[in-house]
Amino acid sequence: MSGPDYGIEQPNGARVYNALIGGKDNYEADRRVQFMLVELCPSLPRTLWRARDFVESTARRLVVTGVRQFVDLGAGFPRDGDALAQLRVLAPDSTLVSLDNDVLVNAHGRALLPPRTVVVDADYTNGVELTKALDCELDLTKPVAVILASVLDHLARPTDLLETLGAILVPDSYLVITHLGSDLLSDPTAVAAVFEGAGMPLFPRDRVELRALLDGFDVQKVDVVPADSLVPNAEPLAVATTATISSYGAVARILGPVESSQREKESRI
Ligand SMILES: C[S@@+](CC[C@H](N)C(=O)[O-])C[C@H]1O[C@@H](n2cnc3c(N)ncnc32)[C@H](O)[C@@H]1O
Repeated sequence: MSGPDYGIEQPNGARVYNALIGGKDNYEADRRVQFMLVELCPSLPRTLWRARDFVESTARRLVVTGVRQFVDLGAGFPRDGDALAQLRVLAPDSTLVSLDNDVLVNAHGRALLPPRTVVVDADYTNGVELTKALDCELDLTKPVAVILASVLDHLARPTDLLETLGAILVPDSYLVITHLGSDLLSDPTAVAAVFEGAGMPLFPRDRVELRALLDGFDVQKVDVVPADSLVPNAEPLAVATTATISSYGAVARILGPVESSQREKESRI
């Protein structure tokens, strides 16, 4: 995705995603893209909501395993009750970081995210800048869970970001990923073309490709995100309940040095 365009005559990536989930922080240009996408893929809003449920339930699970540092990379506009809000209640001592390169997203974040959330303006495609930002806000000697929701599927070379994260995060840190599936969308090429036309290239990948991106991590899950919300009565948009879900949810753990060298040896056999 290229740098944010703040004009209201042009679509903006964060605002288009906000429109897709029925938010109010968007303009006509963003809604035009939303309509084109929903026409091509009527289940896209539902997919994005269920992808959020997946991120939230995974973050809650990671709290139970003891993780107390969470970063939402490419966080987008804040939503009521989102993962960071839930984490602040569930584990009040957690360090919460929201990172985005869109200044309007970050202004909303500073006003609306839960207390003591650190909002960082940085570019996650710049490894040096990202490393500096995370090192400044987190204790990188302890595990961190990094949320990558609808982020890797907008990168032509997501391995660059994954390598940066793999290099700076300690073992037992986690990546929580949602990613549109080329094998889950009925017309991935057309969907990608609409995103591309709106200045936010999309690279849907199939399950095998997504799994391959995560080689080098302990991949704990790559599955279609559950179609049913875990939150009762939480259907914000009137869509058919039979709509298919087009996103994968993945969880990957950073391996320790012994596990990594064992893995390398096994791959040579
Ligand atoms: C597709 S939206 C996803 C938003 C949110 N994660 C969600 O799941 O709804 C991508 C977000 O990443 C931000 N973004 C795009 N490129 C970025 C970059 N290079 N560095 C930091 N943030 C970026 C956009 O501003 C936007 O808020």
